[in-house]
Formats: sequence, structure tokens, C-alpha cells
Amino acid sequence: MEGRPVRESASELSEFALPIYANTLGNLLGGRIMHLVDLAAATAAMRHARRPVVTASVDRMTFLHPIRIGELVILKASVNRVFRTSMEVGVKVFVEDLETGEVRHTNSSYLTFVALSPGGKPCEIPPVIPETETEKRRWREAGQRRAQRLEVRRRAIEKERLEQQGGGQAL
Ligand SMILES: CC(C)(COP(=O)(O)OP(=O)(O)OC[C@H]1O[C@@H](n2cnc3c(N)ncnc32)[C@H](O)[C@@H]1OP(=O)(O)O)[C@@H](O)C(=O)NCCC(=O)NCCS
Repeated sequence: MEGRPVRESASELSEFALPIYANTLGNLLGGRIMHLVDLAAATAAMRHARRPVVTASVDRMTFLHPIRIGELVILKASVNRVFRTSMEVGVKVFVEDLETGEVRHTNSSYLTFVALSPGGKPCEIPPVIPETETEKRRWREAGQRRAQRLEVRRRAIEKERLEQQGGGQAL
């Protein structure tokens, strides 16, 4: 399968932080940021795979700065690495104060998407071709993160199996 460069699917999404998504302190809700991260990442994933994709996992998210209502949220997403049917997408979130032009980096996250065949089964994706030094570094680091993610998944499946055996337990 022929590879595709990272730049062909890299995606950007911008949205005003609107009052309907404010928390009680007047900042943008964390859940809204998570939604935008998922959308930006899914756009890059679908652009790369040219197929429907589902989110298989989201790595931990750390919010470094609050986003104030009225600021512009800018999300930049790119495919870091393709494994076989899954791919890691990295998303960086920035916020721009449109009056001063100040831009701050507020958080980053890694998500894993799986491409699906028309029958709804995981299906193979073309490899991604890292070209720049940054893309090559992200490609290498994605391999280490995948090993950790698959271990978390293995433990979750095992826990589920044990709970089924025990007739289910309260959380
Ligand atoms: C994700 C999903 C398609 C995986 O299906 P599955 O039948 O378990 O398939 P597999 O075990 O063959 O895994 C498929 C790929 O996903 C990867 N994967 C599955 N779960 C993962 C996880 N939690 N983290 C990272 N990768 C994961 C596997 O490593 C494999 O990758 P590879 O082919 O590149 O090696 C399935 O669990 C699913 O549909 N989950 C729900 C997705 C969803 O509803 N998301 C929210 C809305 S989009």
C-alpha cells in the first residue's frame, strides 16, 4: 500500500469559545475542548485513511491554561504513525486573544483511531510518511506510546473478564 505524507492529512480547526460552553468560572468547559480535540483528530485520521474511523483511545489530557470566553481556540492535528488498522494522531491546542494577538499553547493529546471497512471491521491503512525532523521524532515516539496503550487495554480487558466471572462489581 502506497504511503502518504503527514502534510497531506494535517488539519486545523478553529472555533470561538462561546458562552454556551462556559463553566461556572466563565472559562471554556474542559469537555468542550475534549470534543474539539476528537473532531480535529478525526478529520486528520479520515483524511489520511479516506475511510470512516472510530476513536479507540485517548491518552491523558493536561490543561495548562484556562481558555476565556471570546478567545479563539485553534487545534492542529496530524497523523504521527500508522500501525496496521490503527493510527496515532497528535493534537495541539492553542488559544488566541484576538485583541492582542497573543497565542498560548493550552494542551496536547494523542488519540488512536481505527479505520473500518464497509462491513464495519478494522481494515488496513496506508503508511504515513514522516518528512521533517519533527515528524520523524513523533513517528518514533508514537511506537513507545503504543506499547503503553496496548498494555492499558490488556489490563482493562482482563479486569472486565474477572468482573464478568464474579457476576459484576460496583465501581
Ligand atoms: C476500536 C475497535 C474498532 C477495535 O476493534 P477490535 O475488534 O477490538 O479490533 P482489534 O483488536 O483487531 O484492534 C484493531 C486495531 O486497534 C488497535 N486498538 C484497539 N484498541 C486500542 C486501544 N484502546 N488503544 C490503542 N489501540 C487500540 C489494535 O492494536 C489494532 O491496531 P493495529 O491493527 O494497527 O495493530 C472496537 O473496539 C470498537 O469499535 N470500539 C468502540 C469505538 C467507539 O465507539 N469509539 C467512540 C465513537 S467513534
